[in-house]
Amino acid sequence: MSGVPILIASVLFLFHLPSPLAVAAEADSPTAYSLLQSYNFPVGILPKGVVAYDLDTSTGKFHAYFNDSCSFSLVGSYKLNYKSTISGYISENKLTQLSGVKVKVLFLWLNIVEVTRNGDKMEFSVGITSADFAIQEFLESPQCGCGFECKDSKSEMFERNSPFVSSY
Ligand SMILES: *[C@@H]1O[C@H](CO)[C@@H](O)[C@H](O)[C@H]1NC(C)=O
Repeated sequence: MSGVPILIASVLFLFHLPSPLAVAAEADSPTAYSLLQSYNFPVGILPKGVVAYDLDTSTGKFHAYFNDSCSFSLVGSYKLNYKSTISGYISENKLTQLSGVKVKVLFLWLNIVEVTRNGDKMEFSVGITSADFAIQEFLESPQCGCGFECKDSKSEMFERNSPFVSSY
């Protein structure tokens, strides 16, 4: 007889255990952007439009999801492309084993594999080489299409398909 209340209690308990997806979907859970900031990164390394993410806080393994791939120019120079799913490992001041983010250097699209914050500099590494940018360039999230140089940053309408990345 005493097993029944315990069973009910455990069923209720199980139903109240949040699944990782439920955590990501809850309104009061941190956004991908505030999470980045909690690891000491500026929000501007992540474009607007993240629809979901998951994070294993024990390892730092994460995925972030966009509705579509996303391209824009980085402060008027390099072109960046984010796939609709990006992943990697996050820790304070460091993103490693990054996957899904590319930069166009000359004629080549190279994977950005590491992003490191070093004081007021952001260092983007493509493995063989890296480039530094001032952190001030990343205080706001860029928009797909027009990036950091959108005329109306409040606008919800922005280009999904950037003309300079026809192969995506
Ligand atoms: C992503 O797509 C869904 C379904 O089409 C839509 O409701 C949502 O507004 C889109 N989100 C963004 C950020 O574009």
